Amino acid sequence: MKNISINLKDVSYNIFIEEGLLNKLGSLFKQNFKSKKVVIVTDDNVNKYYGDKVLEQFTLNGFDTHKIVLKHGEKSKSLSVAEQIYGELVEFNINRDSMLVALGGGVIGDLTGFVASTFLRGIKYVQIPTSLLAQVDSSVGGKVAVNLNQGKNLVGSFYHPSAVFIDPIVLNTLEKRFFSDGMSEVIKYGCIKDEVLFNRLDNNIATPDNEKFMEEIIYTCCNIKKMVVEKDEKDLGDRMILNFGHTIGHAIEKYYNFSNYSHGEGVAIGMYNICKISESKGLTIKDVSDRIRKILIKYNLPYDMPNVEQDEILKAIKTDKKTMDKGLNFIIIEDIGKVFLHNVKSEDIEQFLKMNL
Ligand code: GLY
Repeated sequence: MKNISINLKDVSYNIFIEEGLLNKLGSLFKQNFKSKKVVIVTDDNVNKYYGDKVLEQFTLNGFDTHKIVLKHGEKSKSLSVAEQIYGELVEFNINRDSMLVALGGGVIGDLTGFVASTFLRGIKYVQIPTSLLAQVDSSVGGKVAVNLNQGKNLVGSFYHPSAVFIDPIVLNTLEKRFFSDGMSEVIKYGCIKDEVLFNRLDNNIATPDNEKFMEEIIYTCCNIKKMVVEKDEKDLGDRMILNFGHTIGHAIEKYYNFSNYSHGEGVAIGMYNICKISESKGLTIKDVSDRIRKILIKYNLPYDMPNVEQDEILKAIKTDKKTMDKGLNFIIIEDIGKVFLHNVKSEDIEQFLKMNL
């Protein structure tokens, strides 16, 4: 079993990665934790495939286990659903020694983490990510949140899981589009920190049924995330490099009210287009955007800006929640694997992006 240990100032936890891990989840959990009560939080899609299996793993190993099944989709990541979960936790007599188990993709992971961070002023939780995007990104690093009507992830905190259990086999039940969605974040890791990974993905097409290759890819990405998060847990500097492609990507997602493009698709378009811009300004060596375009095509990801009013996208970028008093930090790669932050003052953002989108 592959194991990555995340070591932060106040907490440490392990990421366990293995093909078939779900079959020994109960005993693995027992070896690592003393909790007697466990509450699994999942959604109706994931529950169909893995709900019973995970529940059985806990009950067979003697845990008093409850399961909460939510409606799938972003709408569940809300304060009202969090309130509904708090109510169920009270009914189940959950105490500070109990454990929440987030079984699902990013929505379930972020929401369960948020509930864990606030219920009884904080109880423990573990992540069992079932989407590629959650396995390589959102389940690691402790960002937990819910959405408000005014925007995504506006209420949340940094609250790390006690462990992350990753089984690449579950990727086989992901819709093809959502496998590609996760691959966009995987490609991002190659772009910012790992040319070897980028070339491997370019030369051998990763597919969900190649579990050994997926295990290695997930391990590599989680290791990069470990290094970044250990350096800058609270996202004040270096951690921002994980947002390569995200400023433009997020603006596109937002423009379409989060209905046309998935997160990974937005990021794919963002990575290619920010690279074209930085190439035109001499910040990135020539050809990099073309290498990115070619790899995105291989993984069925979009790269061209949608045909929308440039001003609308600019408006969405200028209201990005990552904008600070000093402007916006654009994540730029000089070459594949070489990333840096490039600050652009608020009043110059339009000029920086204009004519190139
Ligand atoms: N998903 C970006 C981060 O964890 O910082």
